[in-house]
Amino acid sequence: MERQKVILAGKIASQVREYIKPQLKKGVPLLDIAEKIENKIIELGGKPAFPVNLSINEIAAHFTPSHNDETKAHGLLKIDFGVHVDGWISDHAFSIDLENSDENKKLIQASEQALKNAIEAFKQGTNLNKIGTTIQNTIENFGFSPIINLSGHSIGKYNLHAGITIPNIGNKLNNTLEKGLYAIEPFATTGSGKVHDGKPSEIYVITSEKNIRNPTAREILRYIIENYHTLPFCSRWIVKKFGTRALFALKQLEENGNLHNFAQLIEKKGSKVSQAEHTLLLDQEGTKVTTL
Ligand code: CO
Repeated sequence: MERQKVILAGKIASQVREYIKPQLKKGVPLLDIAEKIENKIIELGGKPAFPVNLSINEIAAHFTPSHNDETKAHGLLKIDFGVHVDGWISDHAFSIDLENSDENKKLIQASEQALKNAIEAFKQGTNLNKIGTTIQNTIENFGFSPIINLSGHSIGKYNLHAGITIPNIGNKLNNTLEKGLYAIEPFATTGSGKVHDGKPSEIYVITSEKNIRNPTAREILRYIIENYHTLPFCSRWIVKKFGTRALFALKQLEENGNLHNFAQLIEKKGSKVSQAEHTLLLDQEGTKVTTL
């Protein structure tokens, strides 16, 4: 692992958070927020590891604005973004309340406290069950439910979900934490504690490099491979480069089996969801929260 790049990716994420926080006001277009965050990441020497997710209320994750989106910030907004430096990723999220709601504030507190408690327990040799139990107990003590079918994850080079799951609920598995890079991301909800697939999002990932006949689609595929590798990207980025003709090509690439489109993830009862997330590096020097 290239430690310095991991650390830098985390540092950029925290700088971006401090930059964007004061600008998150009710009524600001999500499109502006996403572009400001992504531009700032680049200005600071990183690249977005995935499109900025700006998910409101019952949308738990996977909403990013389209190129002509008119949605304005409101409600309980979750800002989830990633930075990479040569493929070394930091994954970071926080939530804000834009309607002065005590319930929103308490939901946000619950996921933040769960994250904090999980970080304290996060050491080499810790049982993953303990992390899940810590998150679950903390959120339940606030009177809410953790979202059990969303979880933290190990991170590899150009690999956002590298195989190990960091659960948001106690489980019977017996595996322990080893050296590596991880994201912990508790979600708290007033609802059932599960998400299901909603409408298609604007977010894609490449699943196959197989040939496609249409020249525009082929050109876009090449661009995706070169610029995003195996990391997620969005239609907005492709439209910026190729214009709106790219939208049809993205559909063709999806139908041809080159791309996977992510669904928006919606809380099953339509209830509000908060999220908090940090990236942690576990190595010979101990535990380091890279995105603090
Ligand atoms: Co994550």
